[in-house]
Amino acid sequence: MLLSSLTPEVQAQMPDWENPSVLGINKLPYHATLQLPSKQKTHKEIVSLDGEWLFHWSRNPEERPVDFYRDDYDATGWDKVTVPGNWQTQGHGTPIYININYPFMRNRPSVTTEPPKDWTAYENRNPVGSYVTQFNVTKEMLSKNLILHFGGVHSAFYVWVNGQKVGYSQNSMSPAEFDVTKYVDEGNNRLAVEVYRWSDGSYLEDQDMWRLSGIYRPVQLWVRPLTHISDYNVTAEPNADYSKAQVKALVSLCNVGDKAVDGLQVILKIDNHEIKGTVDKLSVGDTTKVALNYTINKPLLWSAEKPNLYPFSVELRNQKGQVIEHFDYHLGVKKVEVVGEVFKINGKNVKLRGVNRHDHHPKTGRYVDNATYEEDIRLMKQGNVNFLRTSHYPDREYLYELCDRWGIYVMDEANHETHGYGYANRVMGEDQTFQQAHVDRAESLVKRDFNHPCVILWSLGNEGAVGPNIEAMYNKVKELDTTRPPFYDSDRRYSCIWDDSYLYPDDLRREAQKVSDKPFMMREYAHAMGNSCGNLKEYWDVIYADSSICGAAIWDWVDQGLKLSPGETEFKYGGDFGDQPNDGPFCINGLIAPDRKPHPHYYEVQYVYQPLQFVQEGDSIRIINRDNFTSIDEYEYYLETYYNGELVTGQFARIKGDKFEIPYPYYPYNEPELVLNVYARLRHDTPWAKEGFVVAREQFILKTEEFWAAFAGREAAAEETADGFVAPTENGSITISKTGALTSWIVDGKEMLQAPLEPYFWKPENDNQHAAHFAERTAVWKDAAQKRTIKSIRALSNQVIAEMSLLDAADLTLTYDLKADGRIMVTMDYKPRAGVELPVLPKLGMRMRLPKDFTQIRYYGRGPWENYPDRKRSAFLGIYETSLKDYETEYIHPQDNGNRCDIRWFEISSTQQKLRIDGNNPLCIRAWDYGEEDLEDVRHPSDITRGRFVNLNIDFNIHGVGGADTWGKRTLPQYTLPADQPYHYSFIMDPSR
Ligand code: GAL
Ligand code: MG
Repeated sequence: MLLSSLTPEVQAQMPDWENPSVLGINKLPYHATLQLPSKQKTHKEIVSLDGEWLFHWSRNPEERPVDFYRDDYDATGWDKVTVPGNWQTQGHGTPIYININYPFMRNRPSVTTEPPKDWTAYENRNPVGSYVTQFNVTKEMLSKNLILHFGGVHSAFYVWVNGQKVGYSQNSMSPAEFDVTKYVDEGNNRLAVEVYRWSDGSYLEDQDMWRLSGIYRPVQLWVRPLTHISDYNVTAEPNADYSKAQVKALVSLCNVGDKAVDGLQVILKIDNHEIKGTVDKLSVGDTTKVALNYTINKPLLWSAEKPNLYPFSVELRNQKGQVIEHFDYHLGVKKVEVVGEVFKINGKNVKLRGVNRHDHHPKTGRYVDNATYEEDIRLMKQGNVNFLRTSHYPDREYLYELCDRWGIYVMDEANHETHGYGYANRVMGEDQTFQQAHVDRAESLVKRDFNHPCVILWSLGNEGAVGPNIEAMYNKVKELDTTRPPFYDSDRRYSCIWDDSYLYPDDLRREAQKVSDKPFMMREYAHAMGNSCGNLKEYWDVIYADSSICGAAIWDWVDQGLKLSPGETEFKYGGDFGDQPNDGPFCINGLIAPDRKPHPHYYEVQYVYQPLQFVQEGDSIRIINRDNFTSIDEYEYYLETYYNGELVTGQFARIKGDKFEIPYPYYPYNEPELVLNVYARLRHDTPWAKEGFVVAREQFILKTEEFWAAFAGREAAAEETADGFVAPTENGSITISKTGALTSWIVDGKEMLQAPLEPYFWKPENDNQHAAHFAERTAVWKDAAQKRTIKSIRALSNQVIAEMSLLDAADLTLTYDLKADGRIMVTMDYKPRAGVELPVLPKLGMRMRLPKDFTQIRYYGRGPWENYPDRKRSAFLGIYETSLKDYETEYIHPQDNGNRCDIRWFEISSTQQKLRIDGNNPLCIRAWDYGEEDLEDVRHPSDITRGRFVNLNIDFNIHGVGGADTWGKRTLPQYTLPADQPYHYSFIMDPSR
């Protein structure tokens, strides 16, 4: 193709890696993955070249060892790196994390234009990795066709074998193959690969991620017969009434030998049948296609719920009937349709309960091993995720096989993003010189993954351009596959689904109603950065209520933190490597940590995404099935009854229709809180969970706690002193200062308080609140309690009552009821004055600091994991026991954390003392071994000063975490504390052992 804007002379001087018309040199055509990834290790045609390779890193092309590819170049003194792997994760050069902007100076097609001096790319203008390895070729192999296969190399590379130039490739997330037959000799062969960190291809690779380089996916040598299967595409769509499926296999053959071949047979083995096709003659250099059809009667359909697969093989036999080549794969019978504004799979209006996932490993960067893939897909299945968007490029092949086998719908995305030119920019969409590069990415995507049943949508990329280059990608996808439609976010003309992302639930409802010609989805929503994922249920209430909304995918699956050496204790993010420019912790947005440990919000997703919902109707529970291909009686239902958090009965439910009766066990006269837990469990083992695994659950509070703990007992009388009130108790004394704070509480000779119990309205921001200016908006509350003015403070026998004014706008009354045995009841009344305008309260409650050795916690409330008002549905009421350390949540980027809601009682103890708190209403409690001030402006958990005291916030309520995005959207109003309404709450503190 022509570079319209550049003269031929200029083009000739441009290196291939800054010339957008050169996408590859001597690259073989893209084709489907021929052998199932899990079977490649034992496939006789494949020799793995993975391992330790010699490696040299240069900071720019000028300094690279130009002639290293030569046979006589001595590279033995070089370092070694592991292939597959990124070089930055192995101690060479600098990982850069940046979101929207290019990490190099934007001046296409150049990637070496001088950037500002403080950029990493200034010194390291375009690092080059030179790799050398050896591979062995036997005499027998010399008579074959030898193909070098690179699974993925970032971003552009040259290949030499035995000093001879073989070719060049870019498009870093797709395989590149070269025929090396004519360059090899018997015995040892020298393979040299020169990789450029950036190329003109990098203009299409501006994804929000770590920018890493090198040969990061496996390298293989394929030893192929001279006449071989070069590609095959299999489709298996059911007919209109799903009674039959038409399997269509189109097998491509080629003859790269020097003799014509007669009497070839191609065999498709499926379902105990052999379907045969013949090719009478294949001339030298020729290719041909053989179509093989087979009908499956009464097919078992493939879906994420029921991933039924039909294993098949494709075989090539010679005239004598001998097998020349044999590949194994599997197919799934399914139909993907857009019918008006409804997205259907197998005729059903499925809901895509999705996540976005980057291919990321904390130690190996862009190379993710099989075990981690399995862990990811297992956690997704266990988390009730049924939809995965491979944001924002094709992943390694094995991931798709897992999705086929275990059942995940996949939106497979092309390696294409040009966000550095602006969202939906025209520049890259209209630049003719980049059109072929766009198309190349669509083509490589569809061709490689064509045979994976899990793929339901082809995505043209993310945050790219609008215009003809996108149209060309779209047309290419349509041309290559008629069974799965294209999707695209930035130019909706070229998408079968209307995407609008990161909307509030109400806006989702409204926007989806406006679009009537296509299904609607949020390809990204619920930005899961740090302490996040509030109001998830609200989203799904909207999605389930509108058949035109086909689903939504959370941004994103796994925190992209790096921990490169075993000695390191914490995960690094943007800027931690001195990388410039960078976007800090904006890559830490996962439901799970880089080491795959689920965050608290993972469990909320698991709950909201569960396929069954339970609703109480009188004395029964009705089961709502959100799945399409699984019936409710495929699960077993187990019921547990609790009195005040203690288990009293456990039994199986008897389902009639879609209902079962609530069991009411004998109910004690003292009327405890009565709670029913319902669990839907797997009846059989699956590849991703054992029999008994809970796929859906619900908790019903059949009778709630009375919330009025008896507060009887002898009273303690408070006497006024110069600066407060002192009440002697049987085991010590209680002091309330004239500021209204509890300043001393001596029990058995020990001071319980390291800092007073007093009103406190502040909570630090979490990541999702920062850009919404939470701290700025609510700043007046930061020291509002500290600046309180006391209007009056008086003792009424056993009570001390402090009346104060907050911010000249609200009145606060604190009442302390004192008992002779040392117990204290605290009551807070908040009353705003008429007409005042104050920002929402970050939290309403009290704070105190206990001695540092109060590190054991037991409570009856929501848990076990952290929960907030807008993210607490997955956290059932129960009695939980934990250490202070586990009560906290350690976010990679420290922020507010650790709250538990609806606490009935809470005990925190040292080895010698115990403090019990009983709520006279549900409480929110956070406990940390550091203070609020220690969370400000710290980058990593180790920057937090810990261990001086235990910081205990005992609250009526707290501002929710928020659930939409990290760039301005707020917590939904129903999960905030408006300052213009009154609040009342109360709790009892008991210091007895
Ligand atoms: C989206 C984008 C993602 C990621 C996210 C913020 O708009 O598609 O790649 O950048 O924002 O974390
Ligand atoms: Mg982006």
